Amino acid sequence: MGWFLLPYFMSLLLHFPSYSYTLSFFLCNPHDSSALLQFKTSFSVNTSDDNGWFRDCPSSSSSKTNSWKNGTDCCVWDGVTCDTMSGHVLALDLSCSYLQGQFHPNSTIFSLKHLQKLNLAHNDFSLSPIHSAMGDLVNLTHLNLSSSAITSHIPSTISHLSKLVSLDLSENQNGIFDSSTWNNLILDSSTWNKLILNATNLSELILEGVDLSSFRDTSLSLLMNLSSSLVTLNLGIAKLQGNLPTDILCLPNLQKLDLSTNENLKVELPKFNWSTPLRFPKFLAQVKNLIVLDLSNNNIREQIPKWFHEKLLHSWKNIFQVDLSFNQLQGDLPIPPNGIEYFLISNNNFTGDISLTMCNASSLNMLNLAHNNLTGTIPQCLGTFPSLSVLDLQMNNLFGNIPQNFSKGNDFVTIKLNGNNLEGPLPWSLASCKFLEVLDLADNNIEDTFPTWLETLQQLKVLSLRSNKLHGVITCFNTKQPFPKLRIFDVSNNNFSGPLPASCIKNFQAMMNVSDGQTGLKYLGNDRSYNESVVVIIKGQYMELVRILTTFTTIDLSNNKFEGEIPEVIGKLHSLKGLNLSHNAMAGTIPQSLGNLRNLEWLDLSWNQLAGEIPMALANLTFLSFLNLSQNHFEGIIPTGRQFDTFGNDSYAGNPMLCGIPLSKSCNKDEKLPPHSIHHDEESGMFGWKAVLVGYACGMVFGMLLGYSVLLSGKPRCLASLVEAVLGVRVKRTNRRAHRNHGGMS
Ligand SMILES: *[C@@H]1O[C@H](CO)[C@@H](O)[C@H](O)[C@H]1NC(C)=O
Ligand SMILES: *[C@@H]1O[C@H](CO)[C@@H](O)[C@H](O)[C@H]1NC(C)=O
Ligand SMILES: *[C@@H]1O[C@H](CO)[C@@H](O)[C@H](O)[C@H]1NC(C)=O
Ligand SMILES: *[C@@H]1O[C@H](CO)[C@@H](O)[C@H](O)[C@H]1NC(C)=O
Ligand SMILES: *[C@@H]1O[C@H](CO)[C@@H](O)[C@H](O)[C@H]1NC(C)=O
Ligand SMILES: *[C@@H]1O[C@H](CO)[C@@H](O)[C@H](O)[C@H]1NC(C)=O
Ligand SMILES: *[C@@H]1O[C@H](CO)[C@@H](O)[C@H](O)[C@H]1NC(C)=O
Ligand SMILES: *[C@@H]1O[C@H](CO)[C@@H](O)[C@H](O)[C@H]1NC(C)=O
Ligand SMILES: *[C@@H]1O[C@H](CO)[C@@H](O)[C@H](O)[C@H]1NC(C)=O
Ligand SMILES: *[C@@H]1O[C@H](CO)[C@@H](O)[C@H](O)[C@H]1NC(C)=O
Ligand SMILES: *[C@@H]1O[C@H](CO)[C@@H](O)[C@H](O)[C@H]1NC(C)=O
Ligand SMILES: *[C@@H]1O[C@H](CO)[C@@H](O)[C@H](O)[C@H]1NC(C)=O
Repeated sequence: MGWFLLPYFMSLLLHFPSYSYTLSFFLCNPHDSSALLQFKTSFSVNTSDDNGWFRDCPSSSSSKTNSWKNGTDCCVWDGVTCDTMSGHVLALDLSCSYLQGQFHPNSTIFSLKHLQKLNLAHNDFSLSPIHSAMGDLVNLTHLNLSSSAITSHIPSTISHLSKLVSLDLSENQNGIFDSSTWNNLILDSSTWNKLILNATNLSELILEGVDLSSFRDTSLSLLMNLSSSLVTLNLGIAKLQGNLPTDILCLPNLQKLDLSTNENLKVELPKFNWSTPLRFPKFLAQVKNLIVLDLSNNNIREQIPKWFHEKLLHSWKNIFQVDLSFNQLQGDLPIPPNGIEYFLISNNNFTGDISLTMCNASSLNMLNLAHNNLTGTIPQCLGTFPSLSVLDLQMNNLFGNIPQNFSKGNDFVTIKLNGNNLEGPLPWSLASCKFLEVLDLADNNIEDTFPTWLETLQQLKVLSLRSNKLHGVITCFNTKQPFPKLRIFDVSNNNFSGPLPASCIKNFQAMMNVSDGQTGLKYLGNDRSYNESVVVIIKGQYMELVRILTTFTTIDLSNNKFEGEIPEVIGKLHSLKGLNLSHNAMAGTIPQSLGNLRNLEWLDLSWNQLAGEIPMALANLTFLSFLNLSQNHFEGIIPTGRQFDTFGNDSYAGNPMLCGIPLSKSCNKDEKLPPHSIHHDEESGMFGWKAVLVGYACGMVFGMLLGYSVLLSGKPRCLASLVEAVLGVRVKRTNRRAHRNHGGMS
């Protein structure tokens, strides 16, 4: 009877359970079955994930060993694959099985000598070492112990696994999410040498997070012996040092290379002249199938050679990301090909037009051409790209209209066209950008009235229209909740007139609900390859917020022709940090309600027609560190106490009827004293400390600077002096998942 009859035969017998001998017809080899059961019982199952070993597992999954029952055929158990002839277990996939406990040297798994594939990723072997018996499984072609809490030295017997095609020992380091990462697993160079020379078919070698600090330059050179097989090499976060042999970049079949976060590894690209035609056959020119090219943050100068343009458009069919930002490249912009998703060319010196052939790259997710010297008009097609979420063309010399036809159902999250010479009206189709969070059109020549029709954008957080030729009255229709998430509202330096837009302000929900218990700093945007940034005027100074704290809120209506009184309703914006109404024609008095803006850090009401006394209530603004009330018609005594003790003369200049400290004009006795001196109130002791903090490092500014330093240290500028060029060598500590998606070439 052939084996193919077996299922039929078994199903017959299953109707007669009394024939217990039918068990012997199980396909599974009894030895393997028993070994598996004992392996199962040597661990407990624990799905709680305090240590993060299971974090990439599907949230609803349960242990595969749950289906392993004595007295049933092991070949139908979850994760088990048998040889259909011998019944021996050939493959075991116990990834995400939540096994917890020590991996003992006597583990019965080492008796599964026929195993070809073993995947124990995402278990918790409680920091046990891998035993040398692993080397007995000589038929293994695939071994995966990723994220399984194993530790110590990888046994030298691993070099017996000469048939290995794929080896993954990654993500076994502790403390991965903070800066105290340490590598648990150690691979000695002598073991590596034997392994590389014996396992000649290795195609996938993933040792991210394994301590390779004993390696010498020659260790990595051995990889050249794998030139016909090696496709993926990941030696990130591996404490590598010395020089990377440049030959490795030329491994003919290599598709993915990750050497990120090896602070002491020097990588030199083969020396070549960008400007002269190829005589990279070197490096890049040789690479047939590039997927990710990241040459950002280097000192690459001059024009991009012709062959690069050609390769990019016609040869690298699978190219997904090109990042050449922060170099000094010149000449014509390279054209992204169809299929590419990330095209990051910012902060160079590219000149000329944005070619219409760009329209072929409709697959783009992110297009960043910011901070170049581009001229001409913006191709209209960019508004129709279905997946484009970031369009950053800021700080160029572009002119003409903003694309008119943003299509329905688009994915735009960020549109930054500020710092160009754009003109014409604002396109109504911007209202189709339902997911838009940041719209920065500042510093252009746009002529229009206020785009009230943007009020329906439920996600809009930043709206900057500063320094254009916008005019008319600003009102909100209040059809729905207008601008419910707006945090930065900057329409300064335009020709707006009429009353302050109280109908909008009273609905700025995101500026009202400050959550006091908020801890930890969060930034707008969650894509690692793009920092949301915006230029705002803080305390009278232009500042670029290189990352935008979600708690940052400001309204800037300065330098317009607004008139009438400051609406009482502004006092509802409890989380507002900055308010600038300067250089308008505001009249009346400061409303008492301004004293409710407890988070206010700067207030500029200068150059208006405001009159009356400065409300005592402003002394309640304990975070206020910048106040400008100059050039108005204020009168009476300046409040004292708290923050008011820190402001100088400049804050009040040009108000001849004001008196009191810090002005030289003292108040005569007829002028009434403040209701009570805040100096003596009961909380003054506590307040004093607050004021010190606020004066020098109030929450917002501190957070902002932090963001800035993160950017600086994140961009390994110092490396430029260390090496000629850096290839995907990121100094930044990032989480592992992010590594997986980045820094590779093929
Ligand atoms: C489950 O694992 C966590 C650590 O991840 C541990 O704190 C807990 O005690 C374990 N539970 C049991 C029942 O062993
Ligand atoms: C499986 O069951 C058989 C028969 O009941 C028993 O002899 C054997 O010890 C069991 N094996 C394991 C690993 O529990
Ligand atoms: C393996 O060794 C451990 C401790 O050394 C012991 O508790 C366990 O029973 C042994 N298991 C087997 C299957 O021999
Ligand atoms: C290992 O594989 C070889 C070739 O496929 C085979 O002849 C040998 O029997 C296998 N060894 C074991 C223990 O399965
Ligand atoms: C190892 O297993 C994990 C979990 O199944 C998987 O995510 C990872 O891609 C595997 N590694 C390789 C090299 O296949
Ligand atoms: C290479 O692999 C073979 C087959 O497993 C083994 O017998 C031999 O010892 C290995 N050599 C080294 C240096 O590990
Ligand atoms: C490497 O792969 C080739 C082709 O698949 C095979 O013939 C050879 O036996 C393999 N070498 C080893 C050491 O497994
Ligand atoms: C490894 O490569 C080097 C240089 O290419 C060569 O001299 C050496 O013989 C190779 N070793 C093995 C074991 O193939
Ligand atoms: C680079 O070009 C310059 C002048 O074109 C030439 O003198 C120099 O030798 C070239 N360097 C290399 C490494 O080819
Ligand atoms: C940009 O290129 C122009 C010439 O095209 C050059 O004059 C200028 O210095 C370059 N600027 C930078 C910052 O490299
Ligand atoms: C922009 O390009 C022009 C020539 O096209 C050049 O004169 C000018 O210096 C460039 N500006 C910058 C900032 O590099
Ligand atoms: C300051 O705030 C306190 C508490 O909210 C309030 O009682 C007091 O009246 C305020 N002072 C002024 C001058 O408004």
